[in-house]
Amino acid sequence: MLVAGNWKMNSDHTSARQLASAVVAAVGEPRQVTVAVCPPFVNLDATFGALHGTPIRLGAQHMHEADAGAFTGEVSASMLRAVGCHYVILGHSERRQFFGETDASVNRKIVQAHSHSLVPIVCVGETLDEREAGRAADVVSVQLNTSLKDVEVTSSERLVVAYEPVWAIGTGKTASPEEAQNMHAVIRRLLVAQFGDEIGFSIDILYGGSMNPGNASSLLEKQDVNGGLIGGASLKAEEFAQIVRAAQEKA
Ligand code: 13P
Repeated sequence: MLVAGNWKMNSDHTSARQLASAVVAAVGEPRQVTVAVCPPFVNLDATFGALHGTPIRLGAQHMHEADAGAFTGEVSASMLRAVGCHYVILGHSERRQFFGETDASVNRKIVQAHSHSLVPIVCVGETLDEREAGRAADVVSVQLNTSLKDVEVTSSERLVVAYEPVWAIGTGKTASPEEAQNMHAVIRRLLVAQFGDEIGFSIDILYGGSMNPGNASSLLEKQDVNGGLIGGASLKAEEFAQIVRAAQEKA
């Protein structure tokens, strides 16, 4: 189980440190649940300082696929490792929608993240139009298969998948527990087909999209919902900690 906070473009150097410290205090020593926070690049270092010596892990929200070079404004996997990142979110729908991220670029980034011992949190999810057209499972399957093409993992700890229906992100609308489980089961089948039973059944599949303390338990109790990728509610330490506690109850 993993509960990760995606802070998106929120926080500054000072408030990131304060929020991280508040999360540390509110979450305490999580049992059987891994907890992570993903602040903006410029606040990674400050956040790492506040998390140092605690069980809470650090993640980034994005990275470039190259080692280094003339890519103004971009950040590499080795830079993320050097500031203490364990995870990197790849293919978030906001990166796809606003910054041209594609399944093919996500695929190259997964390989690059792995070569620097970062654990990718690979995001997939359909739009409302795609869901209403009955194409949600097909869309998500293509995203996942293309993103994971030729990717190899030696342990289930090296990969996380997040199902984030675009229509549920930041909208207050959540997939019902049944809708989430149905899609997580599709994702699970693909992971098992690619990586075999032992690894495929153990990879964490997170749900993301307006998860909050009020709906977390009903989503997390579903078999293939192995945690959450939390946006808005991760900016409030106590709400985030309540979601972590809901995950602990299932674990
Ligand atoms: P919200 O929880 O704000 O809907 O955001 C979800 C998300 O995009 C996490 O990556």
